[in-house]
Amino acid sequence: MPEVSRRRLLGIGAGIGAIAASGLALSAGWARRPAETGDQLTSEVPLPQAFSVPLPIPPMAVPVSSGPDGDRYEMVQREIDAEILPGHATRLWTYDGSFPGPTIESRRGRPVTVLHRNELPVPTVVHLHGGRTPAASDGYPTDLVLPDGWTGQHSHSMVDDRAVVTNVQREYGFPLDQRATMLWYHDHRMDFTAPAIWRGLAGLHFVRDDVEDALDLPRGDHELPLMIADRAFDADGQLAYPSVDPSLTGEHGVREPYLAGVLGDTVLVNGAPWPVHEADTGLYRLRILNGSNARHYELEAVADDGRVLPLVQIGADQGLLAAPVRHERLPIAPAERYDLLVDFGDLPVGSSVRLANRLGSGRTADVMRFDIVRNGTSAPIPEALADDLPEWDRADAAVVRDLAFRAGRMEDGRHGWVVDGLPFDPARTDVAARLGDVEIWRLIADVHHPVHLHLVGFRVLSRGGGPPLPHDAGLKDTISLRPGESAEIITRFDGYRGRYLFHCHNAEHEDMGMMANLEIA
Ligand code: C2O
Ligand code: CU
Ligand code: CU
Repeated sequence: MPEVSRRRLLGIGAGIGAIAASGLALSAGWARRPAETGDQLTSEVPLPQAFSVPLPIPPMAVPVSSGPDGDRYEMVQREIDAEILPGHATRLWTYDGSFPGPTIESRRGRPVTVLHRNELPVPTVVHLHGGRTPAASDGYPTDLVLPDGWTGQHSHSMVDDRAVVTNVQREYGFPLDQRATMLWYHDHRMDFTAPAIWRGLAGLHFVRDDVEDALDLPRGDHELPLMIADRAFDADGQLAYPSVDPSLTGEHGVREPYLAGVLGDTVLVNGAPWPVHEADTGLYRLRILNGSNARHYELEAVADDGRVLPLVQIGADQGLLAAPVRHERLPIAPAERYDLLVDFGDLPVGSSVRLANRLGSGRTADVMRFDIVRNGTSAPIPEALADDLPEWDRADAAVVRDLAFRAGRMEDGRHGWVVDGLPFDPARTDVAARLGDVEIWRLIADVHHPVHLHLVGFRVLSRGGGPPLPHDAGLKDTISLRPGESAEIITRFDGYRGRYLFHCHNAEHEDMGMMANLEIA
């Protein structure tokens, strides 16, 4: 068990001190570990009954042109009023008018270009999470796209010599030379990522390849993208969020007591509260993203006769596993994705399956429901999946680094979150890696921190000094560290040189300092 310095954790003021101290106390026994890190907002309007709203499927993005050089898309970032809660119009920030944004589907190695036009009232920047993307299109937080006529000030940390700032629009190029998987794109604006995602700036992006095609997995209406995200609503049915500056133009960060993360009391799937989906008795492929800012879930599929259906994991953040892993319950941290098969073949028509969240309580214990309404055809689950997973060995590592994710102070002295004692500074290189090198990173956390690396996928070598957990299988780009926990990951920095990021994907932590530069040379 890693040592966490009590003095350090307690020396940082009431709000975070209390949270960090509870993380410390609980790290002694996993059985009592807190379910998540953050504080829950309470909605001020009546919330709909669970399983009364149909599951929406995000629209597919349609290319404006397709040629031998790939597909080109155009998206307008704009405000809409959407009916998330029946009877209420909720103002959202969207990619092209929908939340989640339009789903892009592409083939491995076939480039995608997306022209994003910013018609929102604040600067934005798009990041394709999990994408192997050249630095210029990776959505560095200061590479801002300013709205027309923007006169707002940049805060201290936005002053960045290397930033490429554009007016109104920007073209992002994604080579997508990577394994088939489900990526997601989201806003990554300096200091204000969390409220921008909360307001709706998130969408899915599939990469397909021949390895996946050869497996004959469920497709069409038997492959369901599920973006799970919690939200809360104010008395007017608008999204509630405890920003220090709700205009998102001045001081960043959130108010007490939400410094450790903002949790909502309403669970949305694809933008609908606790939806229901009509299914048949076939085999389904669920492509799950935890798109929440701070909430962790532990998923379980329970039939109405009490049976727990196995969640058969076939893929992780960065694509297919070598072989399926069966879970009864599956933890999912912010930004993680799982590719799951669930077989409804043993269920009678007329039954239902609840996707539950075992970390939730009250209404957050539910996610969605499947109603089995007709007969379908089941298919066997392949025994072997992909054989193209990178196998890096400890002996290959050129460098071993230790990186600590803990509570601390932001540059302005306010309570925040830091990597190795320092809040994010665009001007500082935190990790200098050599292109082509294999590295081992030993990560340590005080409270829950889902740590994400841009550009590369990694394997989990160890957790808490022991072997990885079953859900650590495969190639990851985000690892969920639990309170007091350490883990080792191994990766190879290949693909592109340039300035990238690694950070905690608790979006509030990210906005309040917990991000660092990864310079690949
Ligand atoms: Cu979802 Cu910097 O990432
Ligand atoms: Cu990312
Ligand atoms: Cu964190």
